[in-house]
Amino acid sequence: MTLDDVDAVVDLDGRAFGESGWSRRHFVGELSESPISILYVLVDQRAQLIAYFGTWHVVDQLHLCTFAVDPDHQGEGFGGLLLGCVIRLAQRLGCAVIQLEVRESNHAARSLYQSRGFVEEAIRRNLYSKPTENGVLMSMSFPACNQSVQAQARQRWPNGLNLQWDDRGGKLDEHWPNG
Ligand SMILES: CC(C)(COP(=O)(O)OP(=O)(O)OC[C@H]1O[C@@H](n2cnc3c(N)ncnc32)[C@H](O)[C@@H]1OP(=O)(O)O)[C@@H](O)C(=O)NCCC(=O)NCCS
Repeated sequence: MTLDDVDAVVDLDGRAFGESGWSRRHFVGELSESPISILYVLVDQRAQLIAYFGTWHVVDQLHLCTFAVDPDHQGEGFGGLLLGCVIRLAQRLGCAVIQLEVRESNHAARSLYQSRGFVEEAIRRNLYSKPTENGVLMSMSFPACNQSVQAQARQRWPNGLNLQWDDRGGKLDEHWPNG
């Protein structure tokens, strides 16, 4: 995601989340002022926005802080595709865990996360507003993550945002994603 994407992202976000979505200012801040933020968009062949996600990378944790598919394209497999990208990103950054919160009533998202291996850890009472609702804390751990990759990721953080781990050589480079 770049600043050029923000108008389309804010529009999609508003349609996906309604009143509880992020503002334009929020996205601009994430892109231009937050060294821990990593945001991606998924676009079609005509460069039309289909989905996006935003994460915060803090040492060995990746927090999925926003994630939405255009309502006109929900149920077409894009959410699963993009969540796979989030998981791969976390592995390539050498993260030990991905965490996220989801509204208790959001059964589509909870079901997606569970189907990809996330587990429900705890309830955070009244975490959300507009409307007030509990949040479910979910996580996915990578206990066997590679220590040297973690060390290299830490060394490069906060600038090493686009890391790729070649499983055979344990080599890091900057060409994520590659398919
Ligand atoms: C949640 C969301 C990202 C799912 O994306 P999607 O593209 O519609 O999901 P997919 O078509 O890839 O479906 C993947 C899985 O999600 C689950 N799912 C999707 N829609 C569902 C629904 N309406 N009811 C129950 N489960 C559903 C299923 O487990 C599905 O499993 P499958 O891969 O075996 O079919 C999308 O609905 C969305 O953007 N919602 C609004 C914003 C939001 O809630 N974001 C998450 C905040 S935590």
